[in-house]
Amino acid sequence: MDFTVKSGNPEKQRSACVVVGVFEPRRLSAAGQRLDDASGGYISSLIRRGDMEGRLGQTLLLHNIEGTLCDRILLVGCGRERELADSQYRKLTTTAVKTLDETGSMEAVSYLTELPVKGRDLAWRVNQAVRTAHHALYRFDDFKSRSESTRRPLRKITLAVPNRRDLAVGERAMNTGRAIAEGVHLARDLGNTPGNTCTPAWLAEQARELGNRYPDLSVSTLDRPAMEREGMGALLAVARGSTQEPQLITVEYNGGGDSRPVVLVGKGVTFDSGGISIKPGQGMDEMKYDMMGAAGVLGTLAAVAELELPLNVVGIIPAVENMPDGNAVKPGDVVTTLSGQTVEILNTDAEGRLILADALTWAERYDPDAVVDLATLTGACLVALGREASAVLGNHPPLVNDLLDAGRESGDRAWELPLWEEYQEALKSNFADMANVGGREAGTITAGCFLSRYTRKMRWAHLDIAGSAWVTGNEKGATGRPVPLLTHYLVERSGC
Ligand code: BES
Ligand code: MN
Ligand code: ZN
Repeated sequence: MDFTVKSGNPEKQRSACVVVGVFEPRRLSAAGQRLDDASGGYISSLIRRGDMEGRLGQTLLLHNIEGTLCDRILLVGCGRERELADSQYRKLTTTAVKTLDETGSMEAVSYLTELPVKGRDLAWRVNQAVRTAHHALYRFDDFKSRSESTRRPLRKITLAVPNRRDLAVGERAMNTGRAIAEGVHLARDLGNTPGNTCTPAWLAEQARELGNRYPDLSVSTLDRPAMEREGMGALLAVARGSTQEPQLITVEYNGGGDSRPVVLVGKGVTFDSGGISIKPGQGMDEMKYDMMGAAGVLGTLAAVAELELPLNVVGIIPAVENMPDGNAVKPGDVVTTLSGQTVEILNTDAEGRLILADALTWAERYDPDAVVDLATLTGACLVALGREASAVLGNHPPLVNDLLDAGRESGDRAWELPLWEEYQEALKSNFADMANVGGREAGTITAGCFLSRYTRKMRWAHLDIAGSAWVTGNEKGATGRPVPLLTHYLVERSGC
């Protein structure tokens, strides 16, 4: 999808379609009013007749309207003006884009970017429009024998800004939005790719391809013998049950000279069967998404490289498949992590924190200014927060606050859970330095406690994306979160 920004009057646009909003009840937006004036009151006459109430998500497509230069006008219902907030704006943008795609307009000029969204400025509206449009038209048919694309797909959207002096702001917002959208797209593709294709080796290959696309990215990997030499006992323990070779993938983005990097660590379990502590069959297919942390790291690095941000970012991805086997790690086994601390593995299904423990210790060698890990870590996170928010926990309040802010600004929201000392007790083991699971209570927090034991020397935050990284049901698919949150955080840090 192509985007441009432009200022100018709606009635003067030579376009396949001009898109304008209508508020409830039956009130034209400013751009809609201009078109109505140009058409001699034709549009308002339709509205008075009851063809368009303005309810959120309603649409009305008009053709060959006198006094205008476009082929079509798409009226989009916006709901009540004073209720127009983030989610309404995204919803009406989605409706508009899907309608355009299905009704033969291969190109359009949208004035929805001029709508007054509560507490949001033009840059935000342009950024969100680009991302929402991209998101709405996403399809994943790599594994279907016939593609499901429409006959005359929407290819290009021109986003209106009120004045010529807004063009620079609009263009910047459009570029950031596009970079995020492409990062999200990459993450969704990686996540939706089935586990029999998306293996640790395949993920490493995707990272290398990304490195080929952007010269600022350099990619390296550690294989099993290298991990053995380093002493990554936890990561290797998880990998034991699978015939797929584990990979520790590192992607370095160098845009910030010799400044200390932000390190992103992403859980890359390409399929989580639970191992010997095997999961129930219901919905187990969705455990192909257990590498969305890894996908989020690659998507974010793609966006950062696309934007050429002036900072250093390192992505670290421990990639494994968690399977049961005669050689698999067993409940009760004790392993030595890269940090030297020992772990009693009471449940082989709590594998994410094991691979992250070694990857987080590995992160120390980059002397990071901040470390953020992202992981589909606990089912308990879904119970606590559902699918709206990612959970955030950390040992450095300013970092946690920056992530929460980035979530609010980008619309990819997170919510903090406490990481109090008292919760650490749950991880006591009679046979090792710690157990890999706590009790049934506060599962997301005790998982965070486990990770905190491998990040004491760094400023660190953890994002549990078990609820936010994909959706189930009819619309089953990866969301690409938290690429928007992380990219926004890094853009803010870079001062761009
Ligand atoms: N990948 C799962 C977490 C998960 C489950 C994410 C369902 C999204 C939906 C993780 O590896 C896991 O199995 N966690 C266990 C931890 C437990 C054994 C302490 C869980 O949440 O049940
Ligand atoms: Mn698991
Ligand atoms: Zn898992």
